[in-house]
Amino acid sequence: MKVNIAVVGLGYWGPNLVRNFVTVPGASITTVCDTNPATFQKIKPFSSIKTVRNINDVLRDKTIDAVAIATPLSTHFILAKKAILAGKHVLLEKPMTQTSIQSQELIKLAEKNKRILMVGHTFIYSQAVRQIKKIIKRKDFGQVYYFDSTRINLGILQKDSNVIWDLAPHDFSIINYLFDTKPISLLATGSHFVGKKYEEIAHIVIKYENNINAYINLSWLSPVKIRSIFIGGSKKMIVYDDIQPSEKIKIYNKRIKTTENNITPFSPAYRSGEIIIPNLEQKEALLTEIEHFVECIQMNKKPLTGGLEGLKVVKLLEIASESLKTNLEVIIK
Ligand SMILES: NC(=O)c1ccc[n+]([C@@H]2O[C@H](COP(=O)([O-])OP(=O)(O)OC[C@H]3O[C@@H](n4cnc5c(N)ncnc54)[C@H](O)[C@@H]3O)[C@@H](O)[C@H]2O)c1
Repeated sequence: MKVNIAVVGLGYWGPNLVRNFVTVPGASITTVCDTNPATFQKIKPFSSIKTVRNINDVLRDKTIDAVAIATPLSTHFILAKKAILAGKHVLLEKPMTQTSIQSQELIKLAEKNKRILMVGHTFIYSQAVRQIKKIIKRKDFGQVYYFDSTRINLGILQKDSNVIWDLAPHDFSIINYLFDTKPISLLATGSHFVGKKYEEIAHIVIKYENNINAYINLSWLSPVKIRSIFIGGSKKMIVYDDIQPSEKIKIYNKRIKTTENNITPFSPAYRSGEIIIPNLEQKEALLTEIEHFVECIQMNKKPLTGGLEGLKVVKLLEIASESLKTNLEVIIK
């Protein structure tokens, strides 16, 4: 069965969804929808795709099986809810919704109406993140100490969210996927300079059970673009540089060793060995994500990044907002 898809929202991200959907054999992209008709020129090369300005025209169309929603965050809940109620499967961009109550409602609605609800946590479909999961599970990586992410550039300031709600969903979803552990506390701090309302720079520290700490540095006001994640282990360390076209992951055989009699590391032993660069399949993460969405619809499978995974991320975002507001570390129950 071919799945007929409509993409809703043709701003920055939507055209990437269209470009990938057209290459998936099991899918046929029939319609795009955007309230701003000027965006339709972005899909000019695909002349057979119908353009509409109102989502109701998509939802009324019985030939459309699924919608991929890439509109601003403040519209996610209402558009996804309408789509599920109209009998469509939904791929909803990150972050899932503005509140966890809304996410819970969408999960229930999708279950009740037997529709696939998937969230666009794209990094979970990247070869690099999947490879990292395998590496840190190996005994020779040792105990994981920290996750240290820098996600900064001169970014597109969002109209309806701060930098945490825009960029942290990537790190939160990666952490949830990589580590089988629960957060204990979260501290977030941030500032705005250009706008009046939404933080443009933020730092987050999350403490997890098993003694893993996550440090996340986010900015829309950086002169250079950096997308790096360092994961430190007791025996090895990983550097993941997502900007690199190839050689995205390097595994460093480096560590600091102290002996029992040497608890204060006055003279620690530094171990420095080879660097391994795993070979990764060159495939766009978004294409893997979209193929998975189509397969979930065709086979009635549970998505890897379904509503519950989306909800987990939204909960962390809410806790980060609470910490920003109170300037306090929030203990997570
Ligand atoms: N998965 C990823 O890696 C990734 C990357 C970038 C953005 N995103 C997400 O994609 C979403 C869109 O981000 P963007 O940067 O493309 O935003 P954008 O502002 O560039 O584009 C949003 C588009 O939606 C349209 N729109 C708004 N309300 C609409 C409605 N009710 N019906 C139809 N169209 C409507 C706007 O006219 C605009 O063209 C966000 O949720 C963002 O977080 C995800």
